[in-house]
Formats: sequence, C-alpha cells, structure tokens
Amino acid sequence: MKGLVLSGGAGTRLRPITHTSAKQLVPVANKPVLLYGLEAMRAAGIDDVGIVVGETRAEIEAAVGDGSRFGLRVTYLPQEAPLGLAHAVLIAEEFLGDSPFVMYLGDNLLKEGIAPFVRAFERSEPDALILLQRVKDPSEYGIAELQDGRVVQLVEKPAEPRSDLALVGVYLFTPAVFASVKAITPSARGELEITDAIQHMIDRGLRVEPHTVTGWWKDTGKLEDMLEANRLILGTIERDVRGEIVESTLEGPVQVGEGSLIERCTVRGPVVIGAGCRLSDTFVGPYTAISDRVVVEHAEIENSIILENSRICRLGARMSDSLIGRDCVIAHSEALPVAYRFMVGDSSQIGIL
Ligand code: TTP
Repeated sequence: MKGLVLSGGAGTRLRPITHTSAKQLVPVANKPVLLYGLEAMRAAGIDDVGIVVGETRAEIEAAVGDGSRFGLRVTYLPQEAPLGLAHAVLIAEEFLGDSPFVMYLGDNLLKEGIAPFVRAFERSEPDALILLQRVKDPSEYGIAELQDGRVVQLVEKPAEPRSDLALVGVYLFTPAVFASVKAITPSARGELEITDAIQHMIDRGLRVEPHTVTGWWKDTGKLEDMLEANRLILGTIERDVRGEIVESTLEGPVQVGEGSLIERCTVRGPVVIGAGCRLSDTFVGPYTAISDRVVVEHAEIENSIILENSRICRLGARMSDSLIGRDCVIAHSEALPVAYRFMVGDSSQIGIL
C-alpha cells in the first residue's frame, strides 16, 4: 500500500495566510497540519508516500525533506496548477503504479488516524473505500447518498443536499480509479472532482464501500475549523515547562519551549508556547498556541494561533478566535493622532471592538 498526500491547492479560504505560505504548514498546537497526516501514514504501516505539491513546493520540501525524519520515503509530485483532487490522482499514476493507495488531503486531521480504515480496506478488498461523517452544513462538502448501506450517489457541495454524510478527506483506492479519473471532465468550477471519479467507479459497477468515522475529523481549510482543530489537539496535551517562569501562574496543561521567558503572566491551559518567546504582564487563556520567538506584552489572548516572530503589545482588550501570521505586529501606539493604523495584506479580516 502506498500513500498519496495532497499538499498543493490554492487555499483561497485561508487568505491572507496562504498568499505567502502553504496552508498545510499552518501549525495546529505548534505542529504543521501536514505532519499529523504523515505521522498517520507511518502509524498505518505505509512508508512509501508521494506528496502532490504546487506553488508552495519549496516550503513543503523544506519542512518534510526526504521523509526519513518521519520514517517515510517521500517522492514529490509537482502539479502544474490546482486542477482538482482527481487531477492530483491522475498525475500520480506513474508513482502509484499498480499499488493500492490511501489518498490523504494534507490539510485534514483525524483523531483515530488512518490505520483502522487501511485494515478495513485490506479485509474487504473493495475497489474504493470512502470515509463519511455526518455534518451540520452538508452544502459545503462532498456528500454521499447511501441505500441499504451502499453508496449510490456522490455530489460535490450540493445546493440541495439529500444527505448529511460528508466525505472525509481520506480515500482508499485500487488502481481501478485511474480509468475513472481519465474518463471524467472538469466540473463547473473547472476542477476534476474526486466525487465524479468515484461516481464513475460506482456507475461502472465497481464496489465502493462506505466507512463511518466515529472520532473527530477536521478539514482545516478555513479559519474556524483551524481554530477548532487547534482546540481538539490542545485538549490532549500534558504539562511540559522548559522555559523560565518568573512571578507567573501556570494553570492546567501548559507547555513552554526552551529559552522562553514568562514574566508576571497568568497562563491558563491548555496552552502551548514555543521556544524563544517573551511574554510579560499578559493573560494567555485556554486553547492558545503561540509559535517560536513571539513577543506578547500587556495583553490578553485566548483561543488563538500566533505564528513565529510576531509581536502583540498593549491591546486594550482581549484578543480571541484569531490567527496571526508570521512577523506581524499588533501594538497600541502612544503617537497622536489617536487612530487605528493598519498595513494589512490582501484578503485580511480585522474585527474591531
Ligand atoms: P481544498 O481545500 O479542497 O482546495 P484548496 O486548497 O484549493 O482550497 P480553497 O478551496 O480554500 O481554495 O483541497 C484539499 C487539499 O488538497 C489541500 O491540502 C490542497 C490539496 N489540493 C491539491 O493538492 N491539488 C488540487 O488540485 C486541489 C484542488 C487541492
């Protein structure tokens, strides 16, 4: 069994973060989303993995290398443009050869990993196995309709959904999928849809088996889901304090990395703070992940993700539900006139009190 991890794509729903970097490398509880997927591959006994990459190839390669750090052999598969999930399968044909494979969307997270599904696939040997989970907003997902436990219809983001069973971003295929990805044509949004390819398999009389995911599953492609994934992972951490703590209170599961200094702060876990950070006179509330070399002074932060080298000072109100990119500065200024002063990238969102 081989692995195919999709790490290209446009990432429009996570702009402006994705203007400058890959969404699969946004950290959840201070670890890039993609690495959870690679670890899940290894835990399922898969070590030969192809990673589909697009414009952000260099960044993905810098983070993953040859895969040996994760016990994997990684091959990079450049996709000329994000032409769809089924297009990613198409360009991977040579790498995958005649091996069955697990396709894993690089921005997805599954509590139970993928090992149980790989075993189920090996046991019942269908032509494809799809994972499903009930969702509240089915029109935002690929949706499966079942009849007597069999998949009869798949629709991508239906306007009028006939089921609330969403396709989770992990699929298992035999090489029979290649004939279908070659047979389909681009959808209205110009992509080769994996739902169309699987529908084509069903229509050819091949066996597509559904499998329900019981543990949590998150597609981190949007801000609120990214924050939710961060909460779910932080909910599992244990206390590990390596930095220097001065006149501060740490409550519950809190992690502080090497070389960080926490002065006159209250940190209420679960919280993870990276290495080389400076936090002073600050409250850090639950479900916050602060990456390396971040500075926070006279501030209150909760339920947020802050990336490397950013600085947050004297906000005057609590910052919540936020994703702050790298090298950002959010600070109160004493200079007159009293005003908000912004230099903000395209597609940014700012909520003012
Ligand atoms: P999506 O989140 O469905 O698509 P996207 O990355 O283009 O994002 P948006 O809708 O916000 O513009 O993609 C799921 C995963 O698959 C993600 O990790 C990106 C990857 N992907 C590819 O590698 N190639 C592709 O052609 C597409 C569409 C996605």
